[in-house]
Amino acid sequence: MRCWNSPRDRTHIELSFRPGGIMTDAIQLTIDGQEVRVAAGTTLLSAIRQAGTSIPTLCNHPYLKPVGSCRLCVVDIEGDRGLPASCTTPAVAGMVVRTQTPRVQEYRQQMLRLILKDYPGDAISAELRDLIRQVGIDSPTGEGKERVKEKLPGGPFFERDYHYCVRCGRCVRVCHEVRGAQAISFREGSGGMEIGTAFNRPLEEVNCQFCAACVDVCPTPALYDRVDPANAKYQGPTTQTSSICPYCGVGCRLTFSVRDNHIVRQEADPTGPANQGQACVKGRFGIAGFVHHPDRLNQPLIRKGQEWSAVSWSEAIDTVATAFRKYQPNEIAVIASAKCTNEDNYVLQKFARAVLGTNSVDHCARL
Ligand code: SF4
Ligand code: SF4
Ligand code: FES
Repeated sequence: MRCWNSPRDRTHIELSFRPGGIMTDAIQLTIDGQEVRVAAGTTLLSAIRQAGTSIPTLCNHPYLKPVGSCRLCVVDIEGDRGLPASCTTPAVAGMVVRTQTPRVQEYRQQMLRLILKDYPGDAISAELRDLIRQVGIDSPTGEGKERVKEKLPGGPFFERDYHYCVRCGRCVRVCHEVRGAQAISFREGSGGMEIGTAFNRPLEEVNCQFCAACVDVCPTPALYDRVDPANAKYQGPTTQTSSICPYCGVGCRLTFSVRDNHIVRQEADPTGPANQGQACVKGRFGIAGFVHHPDRLNQPLIRKGQEWSAVSWSEAIDTVATAFRKYQPNEIAVIASAKCTNEDNYVLQKFARAVLGTNSVDHCARL
């Protein structure tokens, strides 16, 4: 009997990569009777998806290394008595794989029933509903009596209600693997394994960055953004707008949900080249607050006596230009803003050197 996870097969896959990760060959295997060619080194799960076949997954997530813990993506491989998890099994040339045999379906149903044991029927996310449909079991109708009862403090930006946790571990893994924060982990609780912090300390005391990466990968209502009271009157459908976070020079791409010209929520865009689905706390939670703040400056002000007066841009520029004439170049310094575009900042430093005659130019990219 051949073991597809054997070191020999892994060696074959590793040898198919040149240093630097460039693929040198492709392999062919059979998935549900269809011949499929994939790059060597592909996981079976990825090969199955490339073949256009959908397969249930829970612990797997594109941001994370596969761990094979939920066992929902198991498949039948000819010549293999077990049911390996496709997310952690490499695709190997010549494999004959079946994704929907009766024993695979029965096994997945058993696993999902275990995962959803006593899951409360009052809050089933779209992802869970889709999983239940794919695996083919009844929706859970539990009351959650055997589950974590208390909501834990989530800090200022999100809520933690592990009553709805299915222990997929995505939140812990994103916190460790992607954010490097290690703020949360699995721990032994009264109801078995639970997610939490060391010694149950508040997130503020355990290096949490409040990036909400854990919220974004959670497939259930266990983790969710706190509702901002400022958004209470902006209920209903929103339009989505993609833009770049204005806070610093990294250039994270965010998706803004907007209703009635008001930003209701923003989240990191998985397709953003600079951030790949991640954001810091300022980008994730801090933009709508200043965009809509009543004190936000959105026109020039000039102090006249003790009062600030709103003026036109031409009056403001004339005032500044007149004031500059009182100073020598070595008395002037220019501070550029990280909220401007690269092009704006380039022009500003050019203006400082060529027009004002000063090389004292700095930038607040360390915002
Ligand atoms: S908000 Fe970020 S740092 Fe805090 S627990 Fe979640 S993933 Fe970890
Ligand atoms: S809190 Fe969410 S992401 Fe974390 S283990 Fe529970 S269900 Fe999974
Ligand atoms: S998705 Fe493969 S084991 Fe969970």
